[in-house]
Amino acid sequence: MKERIVITDVGPRDGLQNQSKILSIEQRVELIRAIAAAGVPQIEVGSFVSPRAVPAMAGTDQVFAALDSQSDYRTPSIALIPNLKGYELARDAGAKAVTMVLYASEGMAEKNSAMSMTDAEDITMKILRLAKQDEIEVVATIAVAFSCPFDGPSDPLLVQNIASKFIGAGADQLVLADTIGSADPQQVRLLTEALVKSHGASQLGCHFHDTRAMGLANVYAAVESGIRRFDSSIAGLGGCPFAPGATGNVATDDVAMMLQQMGFETGIDLGRLMKASDLAETLTGTAAPGGRSKAWLQGHLDKQAG
Ligand code: COA
Ligand code: ZN
Repeated sequence: MKERIVITDVGPRDGLQNQSKILSIEQRVELIRAIAAAGVPQIEVGSFVSPRAVPAMAGTDQVFAALDSQSDYRTPSIALIPNLKGYELARDAGAKAVTMVLYASEGMAEKNSAMSMTDAEDITMKILRLAKQDEIEVVATIAVAFSCPFDGPSDPLLVQNIASKFIGAGADQLVLADTIGSADPQQVRLLTEALVKSHGASQLGCHFHDTRAMGLANVYAAVESGIRRFDSSIAGLGGCPFAPGATGNVATDDVAMMLQQMGFETGIDLGRLMKASDLAETLTGTAAPGGRSKAWLQGHLDKQAG
């Protein structure tokens, strides 16, 4: 039996929040459905944040309602939230899983959510308690887990302490986010090895951006440490509007292809994923395709089919 790796496509949230073109609710739903049709097992479908701060994510409640109304849509949908108000909005929209953001630097906490690192931790603790009662899963994501555009390199021991605190408090998953795409595979290996040693791998995940073209190498380093959960973004869309210089996430197209070729089971149909990737490019008009050569992949799929 092949070993499984779970990919969460964050394109409809991390990707679309940073595009100059704002998609309609229908277009967002169309993209999410295309990603789901490719067999991606989890999708971050949007965020409940201030619409003034991130206009592209306004109407995420309508995205949830549209997906709920489609009987053939069964992919677990996750919503990113920055605070308690976001939690309440996500719960009311019917979200069964939320991603709450923690911070490894004060600079990023302030710029992204106008709070301190401690405030974000206190609010996350409160959300964990509420979510248990509401039967909602909580993914705790540590932003700028490797380096911050405002405060510089993050302290790995601090990141490990935050991770331990929130795994101990009952977070369903704990994700290390390289928000600005600054990490290298050696850093990733050291931090993920330490965390896997302390907590086991089942709840741990990684979220890489490809700013320095090390996204895939970082995924590989984390896989070598035992990590089996990754965030990635269709067509490599992405970036944080509050983190200067950050570019797109590592592309789901590339991550799925690499992991499948390495012998892991991802549940993803690469041909259908290519269609979702093409749609992401058409809808946004700006997405850079993943690094993979489309011509090569198409030829490979044709050969398999034929
Ligand atoms: N969803 C929707 N609206 C929200 C909200 C949420 N989660 N949290 C706050 N608001 C609204 C408030 O109701 C208020 O609205 P009003 O002006 O109409 O009364 C307004 O936003 C400001 O609220 P305040 O508590 O003063 O927040 P702020 O201005 O200090 O901003 C955040 C803080 C967190 C709301 C804002 O920075 C934000 O949404 N950031 C999102 C960052 C993000 O998405 N980053 C990328 C992903 S990591
Ligand atoms: Zn991100």
